[in-house]
Amino acid sequence: MAIRMDGKKIAAEIRGELKGRVEALKARGIEPCLAVILAGDDPASKIYVRNKKRACEEIGIRSLEILLPESVTEQELIEKIRELNEDRSVHAMLVQLPLPRQIDSLKVLDEIAPEKDADGFHVVNAGRLFTGRASVLPCTPAGCMELIHRAGVEVSGKTAVVVGRSNIVGKPMAQLLLNENATVTICHSRTRNLGEITRKADILVCAVGRAKMVTGEMVKPGACVIDVGMNRLENGKVVGDVDFESVDEVAGYLTPVPGGVGPMTIAMLMQNAILAAEKHG
Ligand code: GUN
Repeated sequence: MAIRMDGKKIAAEIRGELKGRVEALKARGIEPCLAVILAGDDPASKIYVRNKKRACEEIGIRSLEILLPESVTEQELIEKIRELNEDRSVHAMLVQLPLPRQIDSLKVLDEIAPEKDADGFHVVNAGRLFTGRASVLPCTPAGCMELIHRAGVEVSGKTAVVVGRSNIVGKPMAQLLLNENATVTICHSRTRNLGEITRKADILVCAVGRAKMVTGEMVKPGACVIDVGMNRLENGKVVGDVDFESVDEVAGYLTPVPGGVGPMTIAMLMQNAILAAEKHG
């Protein structure tokens, strides 16, 4: 059985540490504030936003929830972002993805003032990460790195494989591993012989959004396997991209779903919001 990477527990520890930083800010007269924009009524997004709000409450961050209808126009959304950019009491913001189909997400994300960009999705922040001058890191990849570090898994010189090439997870994840001197391969839907490649990975990060697609025979014995997937089965159960039972037999380290990467993403978001308030409050 693989060693569990307990994101739930580690995230709780991090939130505990962050409380102290919020108190220090408040002592300076700064109440950190995170604005969360949710457009439309995607059920998964609603749950994510609710969890983000709860974490803010626990740590003492003021959260501002902005709910917009599914029919919102790109211009209306951009105007809301500009208003929040101007608002001195708001230190950080995020726009929950996915956005309704009439909206160009990349265009909208680039409207967020880079210093208030809690997700690190603005093109300037992405560019900073990719040129070694990172200031704010995307939350999910940052959370995965934190799990790897806290498990004591060495990254430098290791073979890392990231399955998934999204702007939110796959690409920044690969870059973070590269920054720590891993030899990184990115796989995606057109990759041939996926199993042959994943079997070489000392560190395997799965972020594709397909239930249980990574099985035990695709994993190198002893590997560190991070499961970013959150897939809801027909019976309502949430499972990752990793077939937990078979991979657990082979891997050295493994994240559960739920209770692995998910809580870490939120802890990193809290950290980004606090950092924004510390730097620009
Ligand atoms: N949708 C899925 N993951 C994320 C995330 O990390 N941030 C935002 N804003 N939306 C998401």
